[in-house]
Order: sequence, then C-alpha cells, then structure tokens
Amino acid sequence: MRVRLTSAFAVLLCVASMTLACAAQEAAGVPHLQRQGSATQLIVDGKPYLAMAGELSNNAATSLENMDTIWPKLVAGNLNTALIGVSWAQFEPVEGQYNYVQLDGVIAKARENHMHVILIWFASWKNGTSSFAPYWVKKDYQRFPRIQINDGKTVSLSGPLELLSTFGDETRDADAKAFGALMKHVGEVDGTEHTVLMVQVENEVGVLRDTRDRSPAANRAFAGPVPAKLMQYLEAHKDSLIPEFRDVWAANGYKNSGTWEEVFGPGKPADVVIPVQTTSPPMSALEHSNSWQSLHWPSDEIFMAWNYALYLQKVVETGKAAYNIPMFVNGWLQQPNHAWPGTYPSGGPLPEVHDVWRAGAPSVDILAPDLYLEYFDEVCERFTRNGNPLFIPETSTTPANAIVAVGKYNTIGFSPFGIDGNRPIGADLAGTYSMLEQLAPMILARQGTDAVTAVRMSQGDAPKSIKLGNYTLTFTYTGRNSRLPPQTKGQVAGPPPPPGAGSVNPNEGPPEAAVVLIATGADEYYFGGGGMRVDFAPTTPGPGNVGLGDVQEGKFVDGKWVVTRQIAGDDDAQGEILVLRSNNIVRVTLYRYP
Ligand code: DGJ
Repeated sequence: MRVRLTSAFAVLLCVASMTLACAAQEAAGVPHLQRQGSATQLIVDGKPYLAMAGELSNNAATSLENMDTIWPKLVAGNLNTALIGVSWAQFEPVEGQYNYVQLDGVIAKARENHMHVILIWFASWKNGTSSFAPYWVKKDYQRFPRIQINDGKTVSLSGPLELLSTFGDETRDADAKAFGALMKHVGEVDGTEHTVLMVQVENEVGVLRDTRDRSPAANRAFAGPVPAKLMQYLEAHKDSLIPEFRDVWAANGYKNSGTWEEVFGPGKPADVVIPVQTTSPPMSALEHSNSWQSLHWPSDEIFMAWNYALYLQKVVETGKAAYNIPMFVNGWLQQPNHAWPGTYPSGGPLPEVHDVWRAGAPSVDILAPDLYLEYFDEVCERFTRNGNPLFIPETSTTPANAIVAVGKYNTIGFSPFGIDGNRPIGADLAGTYSMLEQLAPMILARQGTDAVTAVRMSQGDAPKSIKLGNYTLTFTYTGRNSRLPPQTKGQVAGPPPPPGAGSVNPNEGPPEAAVVLIATGADEYYFGGGGMRVDFAPTTPGPGNVGLGDVQEGKFVDGKWVVTRQIAGDDDAQGEILVLRSNNIVRVTLYRYP
C-alpha cells in the first residue's frame, strides 16, 4: 500500500496551498517523494528510483571543459546520478543577472551520458562559511551582515569570520530570489525530461568557532522569548520528539514559554573558547568518545538551528514555488574530534535538533547526513527517526555501506564525495553499483516491507541470524574471496582473506562483507553482495531440514533474469552450503525434507 508523501510538512504544503499543482506535477512524472510502508521513495517518471550516485568536487561544474573529462569516469563507475554544485557567485555575478550556461551544459551532457543530476545550491553557506556568495554580496557587509563570535573579541583561533548571518533579511531574500530564478529555469528546461531529481539547498550550514552568532541582532533574539511557533510545535509533538532533544527540554521542566536559556538551559560561558577540534583534552577521554551524540550548551545550538531553519525555509519555499522537486539540507556531523557546537557547524540539521528543523523548515523534505564516520549504521538509525527519509549525499566509497544503506535503511541514494578527485569510484564499488542497479526493481518493489533487508559482517563476528520470509537465515563471515572446501554442515567455509583484501581503499575500513537479501517467494530468495555463508532454518510448520533445491548465479538483462552459472557439487559443498562471493547475484530455491 502506498501513502503519498514523506514528511508531514510536505503533506501540509501540498494540502494547504498546492494540492492541484502537486497532483499535476506527479501526473507529469516530476520527481517527488512517496511513502511505501516504512520507507520513503523518490518517484521519477512514475517509478521508484535508487540513486547510485557520487558527488563531484565543489567547483567541478564551474567549467564545462573540466566536466568533459569527468562524465566518462561517472559512466565507468556505473553511477546513475551525479551531485553537482551550482555556485551562486557564478550564477548571479551581477545582482539580478543570471547565467545559465553551466547549468544548461551540465543538464545536456548528463542526458547524453544517460545520467541524472542532483544539484547543490552553494549559496549563503558552504561548510559554515560563505565563500560561494557573489562578490556584490561579499563586499557589502552592511546590507549583508556577518555573524560575530566571542562577543567580537579576537581570542586565539577566532578572529573575524566571513560567515553570513542568518539575521540578515536582505541576504536571505537575495539568496531566495536567486534560487527561485534557478529553479524556474530548471523547470523550464527539465520539466518534461526530469534529468534533475532533487536539490541540496546550501551545504553544511552552521556557526563555526563559537556556539552561536553573537551579533547585536542575534543577541537581542537570544535574550528574547523562544518563538511561539517553536513552542507550539514542541507541545504538539511532545511524545514523539527525538529523545536526546526531549531530555534537554525535560531537564529544564518542559517550560512552554521563556527565553532560550530558560527553556533549554544555559548557553556557553563567555570564558570557554571553542577550539578548532575537541581533541582530548580539553574533553575528558570518556566525554570525547561519547561526544558524538550528546548536546553541549544546547540552548545555543537549538537557537541557531531554529534561525538556520527559518532562513532555509524561505529559500526552499521560493525555489519550490518556481519548480517543486524534493529538496534537502545536509549536516556536518558531531563526532569525537568535532564534539562541541562550533567545532562542527552549530545549528546544522543534526539528529539532536531535527525537531527544531521540522518546526522551522517544513518545506525541507530530507535532513541528510554527510556520513564519513565509522558508526555508519547508528547514524542511519538516527537519521531515519520520525519518518525522516534517508539520503546520503556525502560519504566514503565503502561498498558494504552502500549495500546496508539500500537494503536495511531504505536510502534514496548513496553518494561518495570527491569522486572526480581523491576519492575515485574503484572496481569494487562500481561492481556493487552494478549489482544494486540490477536488483533495484525487486528491492524498490519491497522497500519498507519485511521482505528485504541487508546484513554486514566483519572478520571475527559471531554468526548473525535474520528472519526473512519463511526461514531464519544464519550468516557466517567467510571473506569475499573465500574458496569453498568440500565440507558438510556446521563447518565454516574457507579461510578469511588477508586484512585489506577486497577493500577499495585500505584507509576506508576493514574488508567487510555485506549482502542484501530479498524474499521473492515462499521458498525463494535473491542475494546480492558476498563474503558470507548462509544456513537456512524453517519458521513455518513442516519438515525440519532445508535443502538447496536450485542455486543460480546470474544477472538481470533488461529486467530479465539470465542464469550465468548453475551451482551444485563442489561449489555448494555437494548441495549443503550456500556461500555468497563478491558482488554476485544469486537466486536460491529451497525445499524441505524430514
Ligand atoms: C564536506 C563538504 O560538504 C564538501 O563540500 C567538501 O568540502 C568536503 N567536506 C571535503 O572533504
């Protein structure tokens, strides 16, 4: 059963003001989000779409000649989608005069290469700072004010910072106007072909080197009451608020009015200087290792999240009014060496302040993680709470993460950053992308139901059991290049590979194994990935033993299953053991016997 639309806010937007426009867009195949079970899918031309993507380095598309050298790499890496930046400075070099050359060139070449595009609007902020703002914005610091940090005092590591303030209404309106012009043009040139799927609006917003903006306007707002709109949202969603956020509100007595510090607790003391990184010290070792999910001086971060959200809401709603496709914001995550707000951009769309973003920016469809951390699964969990759709715009090239994000966390897309530069798509991820692309119709048809999931394992892990369909499947790590000795049940297949084997980049993690598994019938499964042995136990009444009835390796060609190798004998231990090797697609039909 499909239920239309992701966030309650997108629903509200459609219902309140744009129902007819939304319906017309959907009928025309314009990209939009749609709920299926517990998943949210990106629908393009009427069908769910899985973005096997990569993000280009920031300025790649400022030169179309440069892009000519990049398209072949994207095709070779089996990408179907590229995340490509649009620079506000290049788009609007003179106020009110727009330059569409790069955008049109990118869209044309993407079509030639059978590729889709997700645009990144590098405008007021990129990694907190404002280097993509046009010259006419940068030089007019009175019309377009900057934040102030540390009460304007120059303390070590924190002089003036070229970071536009959210308290500049003219900045917000200029950004929104330019973004509206961009989206109007996208709608005109792409409203039929749908090469452009979504837009990331700004990049990793937030205050750096301090926990909040301390300009006079910001200080006035911080000393004033928490806006009624935010308080009403919190009251209305009290039972479903993100727990670490609710804890902060609870610790201060669930007040429903008051200043930011009265409602959410004290801000950062004046004598604490925010370092570039929170190595240990200044934190204790324990604080350091636990820091990636606890709030420090929450009222400052919550205040900034609210003000970035309000600003982004204006930009996004202006863009959507011109051409309504899904839009998202991305966050630089809190992590051990960036644990205090200000060492990561304070106020960005991080999990602990998702509720604040939801309240302030209802038109933003997705709050997305830039996910380079080792706690990949935990971050996916935190970013899928309260129905937030998962999209990973920046990450590393680890194939196991792609498989798990798709199979277990229903991601709309997976996108390593810098694929034209120092993070190329190697053969391993290219193989994983090909495998996922072939399985995508089957996965997407079942996403959000309990007929599809994924499992990851590392060398040394205990076996993992998963109930899927009519069987419990027990996975044992074998390593992705393992050979299967002629053995019987109960034994572990093959020696593990040496450390580093099978990893695209040994610096990006150990050789993990990962498999996506799909229950396609009462006794039938498809597997994609490899590095594990699978044992089956029935969960329904009947004979207790399970046999491998039919084992096929194969591929999908134009959506049809083509068997490339029929498996029996030595390759499945005389019919007793199923071992999945690297990036293979395997179809298994089971039978039961007494
Ligand atoms: C995160 C940013 O969002 C990207 O634009 C890029 O600057 C990378 N960091 C660099 O690693």
